[in-house]
Amino acid sequence: MEETTTGVIRLRAMARDGILKFPVVAVNDADTKHLFDNRYGTGQSTLDGVIRATDVLLAGKHVVIAGYGWCGRGVAMRARGAGAIVTVTEVSPLKALEAAMDGFDVRPMREAAAIGEVFITVTGDKHVLRAEHFRQMPDGAIVCNSGHFDVEIDIPALTKMARKVVREVRPLVTEFQLRGGKRIHLLADGRLVNLSAATGHPASVMDMSFANQALCAAHLLSHGKELEKKVYGVPRAIDERIAQLKLASMGVRIDSLTDEQKTYLASWEHGT
Ligand SMILES: NC(=O)c1ccc[n+]([C@@H]2O[C@H](COP(=O)([O-])OP(=O)(O)OC[C@H]3O[C@@H](n4cnc5c(N)ncnc54)[C@H](O)[C@@H]3O)[C@@H](O)[C@H]2O)c1
Repeated sequence: MEETTTGVIRLRAMARDGILKFPVVAVNDADTKHLFDNRYGTGQSTLDGVIRATDVLLAGKHVVIAGYGWCGRGVAMRARGAGAIVTVTEVSPLKALEAAMDGFDVRPMREAAAIGEVFITVTGDKHVLRAEHFRQMPDGAIVCNSGHFDVEIDIPALTKMARKVVREVRPLVTEFQLRGGKRIHLLADGRLVNLSAATGHPASVMDMSFANQALCAAHLLSHGKELEKKVYGVPRAIDERIAQLKLASMGVRIDSLTDEQKTYLASWEHGT
């Protein structure tokens, strides 16, 4: 099983190149994974990390979020809830349109860099924040990553732009003073801020992710031999079972379809 977005992208690339040696289930693709873990888990724990590391007051701060995927929309939603003015940057026209219609300010990073005070990358991509952006940022800008590994922020470029003395101003906050005096604060060496400076996602959202892992392991045990060396989605029945179990654990009950409704929803003759 593979848990996260970037891992699934890598495994699909390996399958495409014919070098994947066993079948894999893309747990991240399950609705009970990315809709909740990536959105609500990363959304909350990323801001938790930023706050624990810096004690910054988000209310009234201009927060720039790179990427409006499942993680990005969670972070954007929570930042707005905390009173921040939120700008989103994207490369996908669809995601950018969603962000705009969700009411966020959307613009290219080159413009956002000049107005942002806190920058959070959640793209899974490389060098999303780089020299041209550091140059635009205001003094005291906070930059961090909650997406992939430590590559989303071009730290070698930032290091090159800085004066020799790079200080740790408080744990997990490194101050880079650029020539000219401007300071940029990098959190957790550009590694996932929610895992470095906070304690990651709450257990009450990881339960669904790990239920996917466990039930897919059981699925592979009984069906693995029939599968090819490819990346498979999580069977819908597993996804739905986890949603049902989670609802039950929360004490939330829902309606079920009547026989009449089942017939209506399955037909093309009625109401067409
Ligand atoms: N911190 C955590 O605990 C945690 C949890 C889950 C996922 N992740 C990681 O976070 C990353 C994002 O995951 P996701 O599920 O949101 O992925 P996603 O594919 O849903 O979203 C990524 C978004 O970033 C956009 N993007 C790509 N390059 C960009 C660029 N240069 N500028 C602006 N936007 C750009 C894409 O268009 C896409 O909309 C992945 O690397 C994933 O592995 C981290």
